[in-house]
Amino acid sequence: MTAIKSESGAQHARIHGIGAYRPSRVIPNSEVIEAIDSSDEWIQQRSGIKQRRWATPEETVLFMSVEAAKQALERSGVDARQIDCVIVATVSHMFQTPAIATKIAYDLGTDQAAAFDISAACAGFCHGVSLASDMVRSGSAGYVLVIGVERLSDLTDVGDRGTAFIFADGAGAAVVGPSDTPGIGPVVWGSDGEQYDLISQREDWRDVIAAEHPEMPHLVMQGNPVFRWASYVMAKIGQQALDRAGVRAEDLDCFVPHQANMRITDAMARSMKLPETVKIARDIAEQGNTSAASIPLAIDRMYAEGEAKSGDVALLIAFGAGLAYAAQVVVLP
Ligand SMILES: CC(C)(COP(=O)(O)OP(=O)(O)OC[C@H]1O[C@@H](n2cnc3c(N)ncnc32)[C@H](O)[C@@H]1OP(=O)(O)O)[C@@H](O)C(=O)NCCC(=O)NCCS
Repeated sequence: MTAIKSESGAQHARIHGIGAYRPSRVIPNSEVIEAIDSSDEWIQQRSGIKQRRWATPEETVLFMSVEAAKQALERSGVDARQIDCVIVATVSHMFQTPAIATKIAYDLGTDQAAAFDISAACAGFCHGVSLASDMVRSGSAGYVLVIGVERLSDLTDVGDRGTAFIFADGAGAAVVGPSDTPGIGPVVWGSDGEQYDLISQREDWRDVIAAEHPEMPHLVMQGNPVFRWASYVMAKIGQQALDRAGVRAEDLDCFVPHQANMRITDAMARSMKLPETVKIARDIAEQGNTSAASIPLAIDRMYAEGEAKSGDVALLIAFGAGLAYAAQVVVLP
């Protein structure tokens, strides 16, 4: 029998650089409540959100991705031609096909990198980091670019008081590549399809077209069960990611959960008994919930505000529609 050769890659992987792009339009709560029966006070109290960013027509998924990716490449000192694979986590690239990843790879000037989109909603970035880490260590890629990007304002019903104040736009990127020491811990990931309907597009595109007055199939969410699930179940997943990486809560420098709701972040931190020395990402206050983009955007703000630095050990945990989730401990670049 003919034996097939197998290959292996770097012994370890790490994130080499992180980039971010925040859209130019700042939307305060006062603007959101023009269309819903709500108040600035209620929104801040229930979600921690003060303002969010919504993209202009020019700030497309492609544009924001390329900007965030260029920054990540520059910060990592990696040339676009060294990128062997581009993974784009998004739910708001409006084409069923082709994937936006191939266009991003082309516009960045990669040397015909493999490129594909993944759909894991708010958990997409951590899924991408895990795939990238495995690729680098298996030898199927030298450097991988992971992008989380959303224009959720396209999918948000501004008249829906359950979602209008939450969702936002932006892009974040990470360059993952070889490392002398472990920089990305084992992923703890999974799904709960029994709760498939809790966050979803309102209807199938075919039903949209068949309607007499077609409307965008906006995102709909059962906020309360999502809140309970995220607050209680996700803390256990975070703890498992710490255990799998052999890191104790007191060894952590930063906690960077998906920026879904400030109260969910606080509930998780309490459940995991994170000591006060652990810096907690709170980008949601200024940025809203940007789904797949939220974790790299949140890390970017922690650098900017002096709360995170190169070499810090951070727990990332992302969760959302599906329901899908993924968590890992990483060393920040
Ligand atoms: C959306 C969310 C903030 C709503 O908060 P909540 O405390 O669950 O709110 P409820 O739906 O239970 O409603 C509580 C009250 O506020 C009211 N309310 C709901 N939306 C409101 C709004 N935008 N403004 C003012 N009041 C509102 C309700 O009518 C209800 O009033 P009542 O007590 O008089 O009946 C919260 O459920 C949440 O954040 N869920 C998770 C969302 C999330 O993270 N999604 C992304 C996951 S990836």
